[in-house]
Amino acid sequence: MNDKEVVLSGIRATGNLHLGNYYGALSKFVKMQNDYDCLYFIADLHALTTTPDPNILHENVKNILAEYLAAGINPDNATIFVQSDVPEISEMYLLLNMHVGIGELMRTTSFKDKARKQLGIKSGSEDEDIEKQIIGTDSNKRVNAGLLTYPTLMAVDILIQKAHKVPVGKDQEQHLELTRRFARRFNSFYGVDLFPEPQNFNFGTQSVKVPGLDGSGKMGKSEGNCIYLIDDEKVLRKKVMRAVTDEGPTEPNQPISAPVQNLLTLMELTSAPEIVQQYRDAYADCSIRYGDMKKQLAEDILKVTTPIRERYHDIRNDDAYIARVVRQGAERARERASKTLAEVREIMGIRKFY
Ligand code: TYM
Repeated sequence: MNDKEVVLSGIRATGNLHLGNYYGALSKFVKMQNDYDCLYFIADLHALTTTPDPNILHENVKNILAEYLAAGINPDNATIFVQSDVPEISEMYLLLNMHVGIGELMRTTSFKDKARKQLGIKSGSEDEDIEKQIIGTDSNKRVNAGLLTYPTLMAVDILIQKAHKVPVGKDQEQHLELTRRFARRFNSFYGVDLFPEPQNFNFGTQSVKVPGLDGSGKMGKSEGNCIYLIDDEKVLRKKVMRAVTDEGPTEPNQPISAPVQNLLTLMELTSAPEIVQQYRDAYADCSIRYGDMKKQLAEDILKVTTPIRERYHDIRNDDAYIARVVRQGAERARERASKTLAEVREIMGIRKFY
């Protein structure tokens, strides 16, 4: 009997993976695979909440599978699967939704952000305005119900595998908090001890938020500020060299500006600690040269991404290998999911007559 703690995490199939996905999630997936009982999946059902082109969706699932493998997830150590290959998830999503409030879903930050986008409302408008528009809009300009129930589906991904640890970036912590709340609510409503309360995992450090290089907050696909794992050397160097900085410090020990802090944050993730310190000191004594700093950063990022990029294309072209990995993964993931689903059905009173 395997008594390792269960780890589960996933990434939406919305394109290629960027450094935010890597440091927030994928690099942890790779590091955790030998010490835990790990399941990593591609969230294609979650990707449907932003209604992608059907052909592009399928290609995106394949991209991420190839990136998981190229980054070093070993399918013999960890279970790699596609969310839609586990139909038990969709059934349990329906069942769990009976215990989830519309209000708590509507208050979720990611829902409000995405609903704003779908309705074309400027950020900064009052929540009340968004709510009015959601209820009042005609059916041509709608916020889809799948987007609202995104956290239920994510909670089911986690709970159906009875996961203890969920390595994700900082932006997903609200969803994890909801998952814990739903787990507690289900356990206490039915007087059972079925679901553990899952926790984020970061090797003892704080959860990660990888910044963009455009001086803005977060690196993200919809922000258009991403460095992708499969960017070739030239593209990657160009992106880093174009990163926003400031005019340079004018007084010793002045506070570090936001765009330069973003560069340092990326350096902290990719470069050796002495190098980061060297640039902090250079900022403090006003001798910093942003050109040198960016060159160093680009080199250090390339050290991480080059081996992944080099493996990626071969793996992505190997349809037979990919099919083998996900078939095996689906089998393993379904075996556990179907057990949990059977328990949930029984607990909720969905029983058969024959
Ligand atoms: P997604 O595809 O938006 O993000 C995938 C992972 O990448 C992390 N991430 C970041 N981390 C740090 N800095 C950034 N700039 C950054 N951008 C993205 C995210 O935190 C995430 O860990 N809802 C999930 C997918 C999902 C899931 C699950 C995850 C569905 N079901 C169950 C865990 C468990 C998501 O939004 O992925």
